[in-house]
Amino acid sequence: MKKVLVIGGLGFIGYHLCRKFQSTFDVAAVDALINYVPNNYRRWLYYTTYRQKELARLGISFYVCDVRDTSFKQILVNIKPDIILNAASMPIALLADINPWFAKKDIFDSQFQLLETIRNSSIQLSKYIYISSSMVYGHFKRDDEGNIIPATEEQECLPIDSYGAFKLANEIIIRQYCQKHQIPYTIIRPSAVYGPTDCNMRVTEIFLHKGFEKGTIELDNGGLHQLDFTYIDDLTDGILLAANSEHANNQVFNLSFGKGRKIVELAQIVLQMFPSVNIENKECKPYRPNRGSLNIEKARQWLHYEPTHPLELGMQKYCNFVSEHIAQYR
Ligand SMILES: NC(=O)c1ccc[n+]([C@@H]2O[C@H](COP(=O)([O-])OP(=O)(O)OC[C@H]3O[C@@H](n4cnc5c(N)ncnc54)[C@H](O)[C@@H]3O)[C@@H](O)[C@H]2O)c1
Repeated sequence: MKKVLVIGGLGFIGYHLCRKFQSTFDVAAVDALINYVPNNYRRWLYYTTYRQKELARLGISFYVCDVRDTSFKQILVNIKPDIILNAASMPIALLADINPWFAKKDIFDSQFQLLETIRNSSIQLSKYIYISSSMVYGHFKRDDEGNIIPATEEQECLPIDSYGAFKLANEIIIRQYCQKHQIPYTIIRPSAVYGPTDCNMRVTEIFLHKGFEKGTIELDNGGLHQLDFTYIDDLTDGILLAANSEHANNQVFNLSFGKGRKIVELAQIVLQMFPSVNIENKECKPYRPNRGSLNIEKARQWLHYEPTHPLELGMQKYCNFVSEHIAQYR
């Protein structure tokens, strides 16, 4: 059985990747246990503990270690993975702009150090998979009528924030390193991923918890901003397809649901589940790029990727999960 090492395997996406890959791969995880949102500490502690218990229950070994630490090399050499999935680093664009130095160390330096450690070790990888971001595109283009054109992988990447810029820098370094050292790589660009155990205060988590708390959902600019919300199982299905496909070698793939949905639509879905929630309008925050759907045709054609969770279904599943856990971290 091929071995997969998931970096960031105790984080939201990394944990779900461990679970998904466990049926067909021998999986191990490494994670530095970094909490990016201190004011969500209680929820973060609950869900990272939950993830650790679940991985232990599934027989997946995990190591609490930062890939920038010298001790990581020994872990790597001991595991000798065939595939590395890098799902580590800060996932929040706003935080990266607030603290660009921290973002550089967390997003860029970690990734660079990881590649260096791979290069300096004796391991032979059959694939290196990097979880990048659709934020590398910056503003999505518009047609003559002002409609957003779904971004293809070929669209020029012009990030408008530190997060997107460091993710793009990583993509460039990966291409160069992997080409030079003959490591097949795949770059994945997801968008607005949501689902069970997420605790980085993304809009889906915030709105859903407002529902449980009978609180007020605040909409920037009437909630007209669009996101391509992607349920976590769709993303991990796509990454598994990429890991198993030689067509994915040295390629970039958008992996999302493939439909732009307004944030007000998300609020309405939560309102249907929790009729007592309030919805209020606020002024638009200016830092966000204009976004919408990603174009996922390449993943469809090359990987037979087919997402199955429209926002209504994904949020219902997410809500069912949270309802079983919220009492323990409220
Ligand atoms: N969640 C999304 O909507 C989304 C969308 C696009 C891209 N991404 C990307 O996916 C990746 C994972 O995001 P997430 O939502 O799971 O975030 P997360 O914060 O839940 O998980 C990231 C994990 O990486 C670990 N980590 C960070 N630096 C590390 C290091 N140097 N060594 C070892 N472990 C380290 C953290 O401890 C954390 O557990 C990020 O790179 C993010 O940019 C996420």
